[in-house]
Amino acid sequence: MPMIETRGLTKYYGPLAALTDLSLQIDEGDIFGFIGPNGAGKTTTMRILATLLEPTRGQGFINGLDVGKNGLKVRRMVGYMPDFMGVYDDLKVYEYLEFFAAAFGLERSKRKAVIGDVLELTDLTVKRSSPVDGLSRGMQQRLQLARVLIHDPKVLILDEPASGLDPRARIEIRELLCELKRMGKTIMISSHILSELEEMCDHVGIIESGKLIFSGTMAEISARMGLSLKFRVRVVGDIEAAADVLRSLPEIADVQVSGDGFDVSLAEGVAGDGLIARTLVRAGIDVVAIMPKQFKLDDAFLQLTKGIVH
Ligand SMILES: Nc1ncnc2c1ncn2[C@@H]1O[C@H](COP(=O)(O)OP(=O)(O)O)[C@@H](O)[C@H]1O
Ligand SMILES: [Mg+2]
Repeated sequence: MPMIETRGLTKYYGPLAALTDLSLQIDEGDIFGFIGPNGAGKTTTMRILATLLEPTRGQGFINGLDVGKNGLKVRRMVGYMPDFMGVYDDLKVYEYLEFFAAAFGLERSKRKAVIGDVLELTDLTVKRSSPVDGLSRGMQQRLQLARVLIHDPKVLILDEPASGLDPRARIEIRELLCELKRMGKTIMISSHILSELEEMCDHVGIIESGKLIFSGTMAEISARMGLSLKFRVRVVGDIEAAADVLRSLPEIADVQVSGDGFDVSLAEGVAGDGLIARTLVRAGIDVVAIMPKQFKLDDAFLQLTKGIVH
């Protein structure tokens, strides 16, 4: 059973179809990148899943529960971070979190420990007595994450948490999300800037004009697009001999030896790096590392939205 699911989700705002028959599935423990240009319907989808908006047709499910029928239970399981932050004049970081801890009904005796934990996790402990308004944008985004973690939700729905952040703050958010994934959370994260997400997502869904035009892994996008994936490989021993083993495979388009290893390009449409590891290990070669070379999701996105793939 998927942890997050939509079935035929459709939403009209008056005559405007913001979502049309959107179905997607996100497995437990995944980071799912929800990608699309402004106005595509990302916020609408996320607000429906967070029980804040009713769909015109279709259903959303969190952990198997219909969000339209189990509002209270779903809200306990979901941490939803909206795409803007309200203004909280004169509140200190600690007070801000206290407020939400109380709102979630956390017992007074437990609040201190929980707030300490979420501050630690988001690396804001030193800012606990600072005014919220004085924090940098990156810190404010981490504070928003701290807030949605207070009730220890299984599922995080994060609407453009990295937008407007400088590269350093983006990396901090990315590391935090990877840490949350390690803790077993299922994360749906949206962005209109694809390269913000490509390194941290297990799966991506691309949405345009209220329709999901693609959903799958990075490797599947690549396969669908006919892009070839590239990997940097390092082995123990004879590099040339190892490169030759790979050159003999039809699934491998090219192998270039350079420096302390070699670059392998898979043939068009071949997905996954398991093949390289398997082949080398079977040939008795010790593999030190197989690293994907930067795969530019932006390119794939541009091609997809140009209507090349339907
Ligand atoms: N409350 C609303 N009333 C009318 N139209 C809306 C409302 N919210 C969003 N829309 C419209 O619905 C479409 C999808 O919006 P949204 O879900 O916010 O997209 P995204 O988050 O991908 O930018 C857009 O055309 C937007 O203008
Ligand atoms: Mg939005």
